[in-house]
Amino acid sequence: MAKRKAAIFGSSGMIGQRFAHMLDAHPYFDVVAYCASDKSDGKKLADVWKLSDVELNLRLGAKTIQATNPAALGRQGVEVVFSGLPSDVAGPVEDECAEHGMAVFSNAASHRMEHDTPILIPEINPDHLSSVEVQKKRRKKGGFIVTNANCSVTGLALGLKPLLDEFGFRDVNVATYQALSGAGYPGMASLDILGNVLPWIKNEEEKMTAEGRKILGSYKNGKFVDSPVSIQACCARVNVRDGHLEAVFIKDKHMPEAKTIARTLADFTAKPQKLKLPSAPERPIIVRKEPDRPQPLLDVGAGVPERAKGMSVTVGRIRVDKDCLRFFLLSHNTIRGGAGGSVLNAELAYKEGVI
Ligand SMILES: NC(=O)c1ccc[n+]([C@@H]2O[C@H](COP(=O)([O-])OP(=O)(O)OC[C@H]3O[C@@H](n4cnc5c(N)ncnc54)[C@H](OP(=O)(O)O)[C@@H]3O)[C@@H](O)[C@H]2O)c1
Repeated sequence: MAKRKAAIFGSSGMIGQRFAHMLDAHPYFDVVAYCASDKSDGKKLADVWKLSDVELNLRLGAKTIQATNPAALGRQGVEVVFSGLPSDVAGPVEDECAEHGMAVFSNAASHRMEHDTPILIPEINPDHLSSVEVQKKRRKKGGFIVTNANCSVTGLALGLKPLLDEFGFRDVNVATYQALSGAGYPGMASLDILGNVLPWIKNEEEKMTAEGRKILGSYKNGKFVDSPVSIQACCARVNVRDGHLEAVFIKDKHMPEAKTIARTLADFTAKPQKLKLPSAPERPIIVRKEPDRPQPLLDVGAGVPERAKGMSVTVGRIRVDKDCLRFFLLSHNTIRGGAGGSVLNAELAYKEGVI
C-alpha cells in the first residue's frame, strides 16, 4: 500500500518532537508538513529540538516549520494529521482538518469524550475504531478524529486490561508520580518543583476516572458503554524528566496469588502484536522481579524493537495481601502516553484499511 501524506501539529512541542522522531522514515507515513504556531513559522526543527534521549539527524533537523493552516494542508495533499496541539487550540483546528477530509490522530483532550470519537489504545479496544464510521457520515468529506488518552490513564489502562478480563476486578485506586514533560515545554517554573512535589494536576484525577472507564468499556450498537470499573486517583507532579510512575491498589474478595497476576500481565499480547504494527512492542507489559523496579531513569524507554522504545509499560513489586493487590507501574508519558500512542492508532487504522 502507498504511504499516506502526513502533517505534524505542535512540531516544536514535547509531543510534536516525539512525532517527528517516531515518524521519520516510517513505513506507512510520509511527513510533508511540520506545523506549529505563527511564532515558530520559518524555524528549523533543529532550532527547537529539546529531546535529550534521541539524536536529531541532519536531514530531520533541517525541516522547516510552517504555521498551522488546515486549508493549506488540504492543498498540499495531506491525508493524515498527527496532532500535538494544546487542548484550548486543538478543538476547532482538528475539526477543520476532519471537515477537509483528513484523518486526525490527536493527543489533545478536546474531543476525547465525544459520542462518536474513540479514545483508542489498540491493545485494549481496537473495535472502538469503528466509531469513526459514524463521524465520517456527519463530516462533509469523510474525515474523522481519533484520540489517545491522557498520559497517566494510558499506562494504567494497559496494566488493568488483562487483569479486568481475567479476574473481573472492579475496585481500583491509584496514586501517580508524574514527570515534568507531562506539562509540555517549558513546563513548570523550576522554583516550584525543585526539591518539591506538587499534589495537584488540574483535571487529571477526573480524566483518569472518566477516560479509563470509556477506554476499558465497549462499543455496542453505535454507542460507547463505560466499563463498570471504579478508578479513584490521587495525582502528583514530581521532579522527574520523563515517565509517569503509578502505585496501583486493587481490592477484590477473591484475589489470586501474586505469581498468577505476574504471569497474566507478562503473557498479555493483543491485536497490534498479532498484526506486527511497526511501533507495537513485542511485550506491551514487562514484569520486573527486582524489588526496586520500575524506576523512571532505568525503565522509561522499555520496548523492543527499536521503533517501539518507550511503548512498553513496566510493572513491578507485585504483592498480594488477603483481598488487596498492590503494584507499581511505569509508562513513558510522551511516547506510549503521547505521540507513540497516536502513531500506533494510525498504524492500526492504516493496516485495517480505515485510512
Ligand atoms: N506532554 C505529555 O506528556 C502529553 C501526553 C499526552 C497528551 N499530551 C497533550 O498533547 C498536547 C501537546 O502537549 P505538549 O506537551 O507537546 O505541549 P507543548 O510542549 O507546550 O507544545 C505545544 C505545541 O503546540 C503549538 N501551539 C501552541 N499554540 C498554537 C496555536 N495557536 N496554533 C498552532 N500551534 C500552536 C506550539 O507551537 P509554538 O512552539 O510555536 O508555540 C507547540 O509546538 C496537549 O494537548 C497535551 O495535553 C501531552
